[in-house]
Amino acid sequence: MENITIKQLQNRKSIRQFTGESVSEQDLQLIFKTAQRAPTSINGQQISLVYTRDKAKLKQISELCGGQAHIATADVFVGVVIDFNRTSTIVESLGKKHVIEQSAEGIMVGAIDAGIMLSFMQTAAEALGYGTTSIGAVRENSDVMIQLFNLPQKTFLAVGCTIGVPAEVATHAPLKPRVAVESFAMEDAYDQEKVKKDVLAYDKSFKAFRDATGSGSMPTYAELTTKAYSNIYYRKTGKVLQSQGFAFKDE
Ligand SMILES: Cc1cc2nc3c(=O)[nH]c(=O)nc-3n(C[C@H](O)[C@H](O)[C@H](O)COP(=O)(O)O)c2cc1C
Repeated sequence: MENITIKQLQNRKSIRQFTGESVSEQDLQLIFKTAQRAPTSINGQQISLVYTRDKAKLKQISELCGGQAHIATADVFVGVVIDFNRTSTIVESLGKKHVIEQSAEGIMVGAIDAGIMLSFMQTAAEALGYGTTSIGAVRENSDVMIQLFNLPQKTFLAVGCTIGVPAEVATHAPLKPRVAVESFAMEDAYDQEKVKKDVLAYDKSFKAFRDATGSGSMPTYAELTTKAYSNIYYRKTGKVLQSQGFAFKDE
């Protein structure tokens, strides 16, 4: 028997073309309520969401995120916020000082919980027939995004997400291939040789996919990864984290 959750997840893809129709308020609240069932480290619930469906704000966000025009065409933008302001309030209520945001561990906890929340939100939205795209580019101009959503100290906008009604052209677009599952899920020990062999093979199959789908202008896996990772592409992240009260140390 086909499992609908597996089917949904196996067919998911980022959606960047929308019809312009609205996400109903009822659905949006259902998405948020469902996303809130995501696990959080120590049940700290150190994640908050900030969202807008204001067209002028969506346009501004699309510009702040490196000029990603598709963001302005979504119906909703949701920012996933690492929120140690919430946990700080409760720790201070017991007369103690909240310091976890001043550690690599705290930044890891916040980033991991933000990623899990993003995934829950997207899965819920997609189950209702909406399309989504994760927006890491919120960190390109973190400082302005923080002002835009009035985020307090001990918070950081980790990642964003667009939600909208997918246009047919996007619904019918092919799924982007992945590396071989054997070099992704490895039993007992990491296999460096296999990872190397398969990633090189993947780059070849990605080129074949591009040619077969007429998406020749899309950079190859090697090109895109090299462009991104041979460079520190967002250079404000550390400074903005610090100005929000975070530190990357373990003392
Ligand atoms: C944390 C994260 C940040 C991302 N940031 C962006 C972004 O800023 N803009 C964008 O168009 N896609 C963004 N993506 C989407 C990826 O490009 C996409 O997931 C990847 O190309 C695989 O394609 P698929 O999701 O259609 O399978 C992001 C994805 C993740 C997980």
